[in-house]
Amino acid sequence: MMKPMRCQVCGEVYLGDEVPDRCPFCGAAGKQMVSAAEWIDYGKVDMNDFDMEQCRTALGFEISNATFYKCCAGKAENIFNQAIFKRLTKQEMEHAELLANMMGVDMPDFTEESCPDTDKEKYEEAHLREHRAIKFYLESAAKCENPRVKEIFRALSEIETEHLQISNVYR
Ligand SMILES: [Fe+2]
Ligand SMILES: [Fe+2]
Repeated sequence: MMKPMRCQVCGEVYLGDEVPDRCPFCGAAGKQMVSAAEWIDYGKVDMNDFDMEQCRTALGFEISNATFYKCCAGKAENIFNQAIFKRLTKQEMEHAELLANMMGVDMPDFTEESCPDTDKEKYEEAHLREHRAIKFYLESAAKCENPRVKEIFRALSEIETEHLQISNVYR
């Protein structure tokens, strides 16, 4: 029977019979989906200035990548790539919201991002952006102090690794 599950990364609720392979909202691994009754609300995380600064940088990456993918979806060459870019836009938006919640700040304004005309070049740029995000999250997870911040940065690095693999397949 359908039951509510909740993502321990992004907090979104999923109704289903089985634990999904990945969170349909943020892309986190299925192991992050817990029964809604067992879900822990971390809310705003009490972190030091260094961790806060790292979260601010991360939020900047997520907003920038979400805006980039939105541009890509808006001028994709076919509906297949459009579907991928749409999903990536939503996942990066979830990541941005998650970071803003952890920091206890409002979502920042959107940046202006342009994107290449051909889908091949879009995926090439996606590859560079995801590579940059993964590198940042892994290095930052090691340097940050707060355990929740570390955990989220590691989870995000795994999700962006999946995005990187998508860019590798289609570029
Ligand atoms: Fe999620
Ligand atoms: Fe992301």
